[in-house]
Amino acid sequence: MLKVKKLRCEYRENPMGIDVAAPRLSWQLIADGRSVMQKAYRIQVSKDDDSFKNIVWDTGIVSSDKSVHVEYAGDALESRTRYYYRVKAWDNKGNVSDWSDAGFWEMGMLGTDEWAAEWITPADVNLQASKVSPLLRKEFNITEKVKTARVYVTSLGLYELYINGIRVSDHLFTPGWTSYNKRLQYQTYDVTHLLEDGVNAIGAVLGNGWYKGELGWKGNSKIYGDKLALLLQMHITYEDGKESMVISDNSWKASTSPILMSEIYHGETYDARMEKYDWNTADYDDSDWNGVMVLDKTKKNLVAQESVPVRVIQNIKPVGLIKTPKGEIVIDFGQNMVGRVSFVVEGPAGSEVVLQHAEVLDKDGNFYTDNLRHAKQTVRYILKGNGKECYEPHFTFQGFRYVKVVSYPGEILPENFTGRVIHSDMEVTGNFTCSDEMVNQLQHNIFWGQKGNFLDVPTDCPQRDERLGWTGDAQVFIRTACFNMNVAPFFTKWLRDLAADQSEEKGVPHVIPHVLGDNSYSSSAWGDAATICPWTIYICYGDKRILEEQYASMKQWVEYIRRQGDNEYLWNTGIHYGDWLGLDSKEGSYVGATPTDLIATAFYANSADILAKTAKILGKLADASEYEELHKKIVDNFRKEFVTPNGRLASSTQSAHVLALMFNLVDDRDRNRVTNNLVKLLEQNNYHLTTGFIGTPYLCHVLSQNGYNDIAYKLLLNTDYPSWLYQITKGATTIWEHWDGIKEDGSFWSSDMNSFNHYAYGSIGDWLYRTVAGINTDEERTGYKHIFITPKPGPGLSFARAQIESMYGIILSSWKKDGDKMQVYVSIPANTTAVVILPFADIKDVKEGGRKLEEAEGIFRYEKTADGVKVGIGSGDYTFSYGVSC
Ligand code: BGC
Repeated sequence: MLKVKKLRCEYRENPMGIDVAAPRLSWQLIADGRSVMQKAYRIQVSKDDDSFKNIVWDTGIVSSDKSVHVEYAGDALESRTRYYYRVKAWDNKGNVSDWSDAGFWEMGMLGTDEWAAEWITPADVNLQASKVSPLLRKEFNITEKVKTARVYVTSLGLYELYINGIRVSDHLFTPGWTSYNKRLQYQTYDVTHLLEDGVNAIGAVLGNGWYKGELGWKGNSKIYGDKLALLLQMHITYEDGKESMVISDNSWKASTSPILMSEIYHGETYDARMEKYDWNTADYDDSDWNGVMVLDKTKKNLVAQESVPVRVIQNIKPVGLIKTPKGEIVIDFGQNMVGRVSFVVEGPAGSEVVLQHAEVLDKDGNFYTDNLRHAKQTVRYILKGNGKECYEPHFTFQGFRYVKVVSYPGEILPENFTGRVIHSDMEVTGNFTCSDEMVNQLQHNIFWGQKGNFLDVPTDCPQRDERLGWTGDAQVFIRTACFNMNVAPFFTKWLRDLAADQSEEKGVPHVIPHVLGDNSYSSSAWGDAATICPWTIYICYGDKRILEEQYASMKQWVEYIRRQGDNEYLWNTGIHYGDWLGLDSKEGSYVGATPTDLIATAFYANSADILAKTAKILGKLADASEYEELHKKIVDNFRKEFVTPNGRLASSTQSAHVLALMFNLVDDRDRNRVTNNLVKLLEQNNYHLTTGFIGTPYLCHVLSQNGYNDIAYKLLLNTDYPSWLYQITKGATTIWEHWDGIKEDGSFWSSDMNSFNHYAYGSIGDWLYRTVAGINTDEERTGYKHIFITPKPGPGLSFARAQIESMYGIILSSWKKDGDKMQVYVSIPANTTAVVILPFADIKDVKEGGRKLEEAEGIFRYEKTADGVKVGIGSGDYTFSYGVSC
């Protein structure tokens, strides 16, 4: 049996409107048995129809085991055209698959000169300047039979689009957030089914969003511009082959909507009495509407949608209704989530529903909003008063678990409220479970941190007046993120903005898209997102193209660092965030005690190393040797500056030791000493961490890698402050920004910087997947083409299990320790191979499925190593069991 399944184009299933010249196609092989490898494939691509008669690319039978990211190399792809593709495969067992089901991709509007549409905004200057969301509408006639219709649309601000009263898609927060002045996405929708014979209407509502609304904690708004606008082009193809277009131009009409205010941070005010009933349908009388004006705005920055869309991903019902000691009525959704609340209400016209959103209750059980700083997170709905009314905000999202019902006509019944969870619709790829329920809750919290903070861009937090694409947070969390969900398209888009927003000198802004002040760039470890993020996507998805695309940006960042100060091999100038929020910070400071020049130089070395490896992969051999040399010199200089001749680190913080070990900055002969000193530091602190954003992600890794796996487990399983599980004892359902967001006595850390949904410390997820369960990829054959399964059981857990869906299919690693018996269960997808290290095992003792290793199928070699028995396997499911003495 051999099947080709799960066809993906540019990671996506049947993407609409892409502008990639050579899209990459991937598929998974489904096969019985073990050690199945693809021997050959054949791809056919057909234009416009799925009968494969109009072939534009036929690879013929290609002898290759490549099944991920095969680049299209047929005829040049045409604008606004759909291409169907199918794949057939041959395996090493003599099986031939049938043709797969057909998948497709559709090209967007490829040339900016194809845009006949014009940017339009309401002509009424009062409406332009007001907080009210404008409506835009236009009628058009259809007199012939429609074959297909597509809308290409974008906006300055956010848009919702309707045809004949129906929303064209469930995508939210379109056109997404990019560095708008340089790159603005448009979306492509198939609207064939929405068109009717005769008169049709198309209508859009615009919202401030990131473009015109408030952004950043200084209360700045209109960062990109002060006028909302729409750009829309609909192409209608008729059965007889003729075509017509509907475009945004000065024939459209504009008016006010009931959305009186909508701001990402502050919520929305909606007066249902101002609704224009059926405004987006053909029967509507718009004679009292105003006109629009054409804006002279560029179309040169337009790009097709690059990432997955943002959607409502799930609904959550309240778990309780609380009356607080202060008498507030608060709905508890049981989960700190990001999105908004939809509700049903009935009451007299002019009565109001007012909802305030918050993440936590205070010590006394009262509603707490101080940590939101200026973000109001308040939704106000004014009833029209004609029966049951349903409402959900449009252009805003909140970070919350608790909703205070400030006003609501009638009885407050939990069933009338629904939490709508919103984020980028990334495919869920991973899960981790183990024998400790608190660790399982930790994994849950990490996962929810990712859901809440991956809303089109990776943000620091989703609730207070920030919600920005902080680079440091993103690089710290990316590896964990890659386990939980497929984040490749999400980061591809964001990294293009990072490159676009690099300063003139090629520093990297603190937040991407860059919306802070001119000097807000180039902190070490934050700017290193420029190298770490593309490299991680390459490692986890085998995506060489992201390295090609980002290469200039990566190199410019390293060269930028090199130019700082007067020693090109150290970075000891500038202002840095350091080991942000480290517990060893001086009173009144957020910057941990680890010297910032040590951190900066360590990350500089790491970035130079990544750059050298990238250059090698891309065949840029001169660069490769130059940056290898640079890396070596940075490491030498690091040693001179920060390591004593006897191998002691000049800084005695946990994070300094962690970085030195993680980035291989100390001489081999000093490794033990540095590791032992780290262990001593931990011991002095009663085996508790003091690390901040920079040291935390690597702390358990360096312990496990250097002979102290038991201490890594100890740190993981601590339940008292400061630890990962401490927050679980305090009821956390997402990851906190601070180790002591809520203190032992129930009081809060300062309201100034106290998010309860900040994923940085969730980066422990990487260690859970990669070390505890032991799923890793080989740097030489990335994207899990060659897999390492190296579980490292430790004290306190009796089993652990992780599963991830790689581009090749599902990889599973689970282990169970029962007294002196150990069982390791592994599943490896077809067309990959793996090396498994069975911890604490002795060769003579190991059985696979009840057989000795030499008798088991699919095992091509095994040997005893210091870490356990090393077994080479092909695809399939394996159960290893053996006795252990420790
Ligand atoms: C953000 C962070 C960010 C930091 C930079 C904070 O306000 O929330 O997570 O990385 O600033 O120092």
